[in-house]
Amino acid sequence: MDSEPSRRLGVLISGRGSNLQALIAAIADGRLRATIDVVISNVDTAAGVERARAAGIHTLVMPHRGWPSRDAYDAALAAELRARQVSLVCLAGFMRRLGPVMIEAFPKAILNIHPSLLPSFPGVDAQRQALEHGVKVSGATVHFVTEALDAGPIVLQRAVPVLEDDTPESLAARILVEEHAIYPDAVAQVLDGGWRIDGRRFAFGDAHGRV
Ligand code: GRF
Repeated sequence: MDSEPSRRLGVLISGRGSNLQALIAAIADGRLRATIDVVISNVDTAAGVERARAAGIHTLVMPHRGWPSRDAYDAALAAELRARQVSLVCLAGFMRRLGPVMIEAFPKAILNIHPSLLPSFPGVDAQRQALEHGVKVSGATVHFVTEALDAGPIVLQRAVPVLEDDTPESLAARILVEEHAIYPDAVAQVLDGGWRIDGRRFAFGDAHGRV
């Protein structure tokens, strides 16, 4: 496995871990040149913890309860990620807001995957929100994490149709397929560099579009 210092990932999870699995698979089959140097779950029963262990990845469970403040928890998270020399943090179903301490510890180096075409339907239950709104197209978004919820610069998006007889579960399943496809690609793009953030836009090359 590659262990270039600038291609070390830390993945934060709270649950199932299927996006974590997609990253593990993409690394294994060479689509994503990176290493996952630590997986941290804030939920001790998260199924993703087992997936990480099964892949031989260093895994930590850090329940957020009991910490005196969000800042204190975030500082502990940042310390663990730094201890593993992580260069890019990937949130993969991490159901906890990050505050300024984490955001400032990893500037332009935290990504999240969200199951809607942002800026539509941020927050929880994005698939249900999409159905209730009646949109005909939804999808998945990989974006940088900033302090505003699900609002950072967008790296990649993929659309899926919303069908007449969809339930939140059937729509979520269709979106999840695309999540698994775009998250490794987005991570690879960010690790490969040559990009800039221009206002809200994630763009390649210099301000004139020259690469
Ligand atoms: C995904 O739908 C992701 O977009 C959202 O939470 C879900 C996590 O699923 N942020 P998994 O744990 O990766 O299977």
